[in-house]
Amino acid sequence: MTTITRPRAFGAAFILACTLAGTALAAPKTYKLPEETAALKPGAEPGFEAAKNNCMACHSADYVNYQPSKKGQAFWDAEVQKMIKVYKAPIDDKDAKAIAEYLGQTY
Ligand code: HEC
Repeated sequence: MTTITRPRAFGAAFILACTLAGTALAAPKTYKLPEETAALKPGAEPGFEAAKNNCMACHSADYVNYQPSKKGQAFWDAEVQKMIKVYKAPIDDKDAKAIAEYLGQTY
C-alpha cells in the first residue's frame, strides 16, 4: 500500500509565491491627469468671490459653465436655491444673493 503524503510546507510556499507575484504585478503605475481648466468666469464682486468659495465644494465650475448662456436672473436665482435646498449646500443668504447676481450678470 502506498500513501501519498503532500508536505504541508509546499502549500504554504505556493501561496507565498503567488502573493509575491501578485505584489510584483501591482507595481505602481503613474497616470497623468488632465489639467484642471474649469474655472468660473470673472465677474462682479462680491458674488464672484463668494461663488468661488461656495460653489466649487461639490463639483467643478463646468456645472456652471455648461449651462446655456442667457438663461436669465430667475434661472440663476433658482439654481442657487436648488443647491442650498436640494443638495444642502451650506451657503448663507447674503452670499446666495451675491452669487445669484454674479451668475445672472456673467452667464
Ligand atoms: C453641497 C454640494 C453642492 C454645492 C455646494 C453646490 N452644488 Fe451645484 N450641484 C450639486 C449636485 C449634487 C448637483 C447635481 C449633480 C448631477 O446631477 O450630476 C449639482 C448641479 C449643479 C448644476 C447643474 C444643473 C443642475 O441643476 O443640476 C449647476 C449649474 C450648479 N450645480 C451650480 C451650483 C452653484 C452656482 C453653486 C453655488 C451657489 C453650487 N452649484 C454649489 C451639489 C452642489
